[in-house]
Amino acid sequence: MTIETNRYDRMTYRRCGRSGVLLPAVSLGLWHNFGSVDSPDEARAMVRRAFDLGITHFDLANNYGPEPGSAEENFGRILRHDLAGHRDELIISTKAGWRMWPGPYGDHGSRKYMLASLDQSLRRMQLEYVDIFYHHRPDPDTPLEESMLALDQSVRQGKALYVGISAYDPDETRAALKILRELRTPVIIHQPRYSMFDRRAEDGLLEVLADEGIGCIVFSPLAQGLLTDKYLRGIPEGSRASKEHGALRPDDITEDRRAQLLRLNEIAANRGQSLAQLAIAWVLRHETVSSALIGASRVAQIDDGVAALDNLSLSDDELREIDDALGATERSAPASPRGIGRNPT
Ligand SMILES: NC(=O)c1ccc[n+]([C@@H]2O[C@H](COP(=O)([O-])OP(=O)(O)OC[C@H]3O[C@@H](n4cnc5c(N)ncnc54)[C@H](OP(=O)(O)O)[C@@H]3O)[C@@H](O)[C@H]2O)c1
Repeated sequence: MTIETNRYDRMTYRRCGRSGVLLPAVSLGLWHNFGSVDSPDEARAMVRRAFDLGITHFDLANNYGPEPGSAEENFGRILRHDLAGHRDELIISTKAGWRMWPGPYGDHGSRKYMLASLDQSLRRMQLEYVDIFYHHRPDPDTPLEESMLALDQSVRQGKALYVGISAYDPDETRAALKILRELRTPVIIHQPRYSMFDRRAEDGLLEVLADEGIGCIVFSPLAQGLLTDKYLRGIPEGSRASKEHGALRPDDITEDRRAQLLRLNEIAANRGQSLAQLAIAWVLRHETVSSALIGASRVAQIDDGVAALDNLSLSDDELREIDDALGATERSAPASPRGIGRNPT
């Protein structure tokens, strides 16, 4: 198999805050569907197709699988077999912050945990460095300085080029950035959840990031597959909501939710787009959002997502119609609460 030579022609690249890094407007995350329980052939085909479409950014974390760690192992294997010689064309990220190994040092935000976890991630992927190392979630029981110094250390050790934070609220973000700036750590990115079904990033976070010149890559822009045509008529076999280890639950798909989806699907159809494409265009309407970080279970979904870039403009009327379909409650009501202990992200 050869790599597409025109792979950079179709993708749009957006600056990550006020850094030197450009990110593809659509990036691929390996939280689900790249673990040891999943099809290695499909995983490989998805990474290859993504790269062929100009997706240069792949997002991982220590615990992605299941089994935890297996997404990094599989991704490392795909890199060696299929993308050898292309490392300098890739932005690869990983994270530490959720439970990864037993005992008191395998979770949260201590220096002990974070630096050991990065070493493990590098071993699993067989990489010398990652491009971005994130603290995956704030840890209220560890001094923020300790977690930020661990991020700083990862760069000083040559094991990460840049650092980021994920799921930090606006105040935590400002405090983290202050420390990292004092240390002169190359912090360039924040990774919050953001979609039509979870608009909390609009309550101050996007403003802080714009103000501070930090890039924003939004995860679950499709609300884990809800914001597609997949669940309009039930829960299809093999979908995330049908899987025991999936972080989306069948009871997230209520009748009210389905009614919203039908209206949103109609708005998308009027634009000649799939609902997934409308959902991606909607998050990318903010200049601060550098990239929409999607997941996928098959190659066709990546094609569909990237084709959103053919029509990103949304009129005021369309935005009003979308707000109307969502109703006033969406700003505070996520599709699915972060499942601590269930399938941590
Ligand atoms: N920082 C954090 O705390 C955190 C948390 C969560 C995720 N993330 C990152 O964000 C990435 C994306 O998260 P996510 O997987 O929840 O994103 P998502 O894009 O909201 O959902 C992905 C799922 O949507 C479905 N899908 C995707 N494209 C589709 C299409 N065109 N048509 C129909 N269905 C489509 C697939 O579901 P099926 O599998 O049902 O086919 C796919 O698995 C993760 O891989 C991870 O890298 C980070």
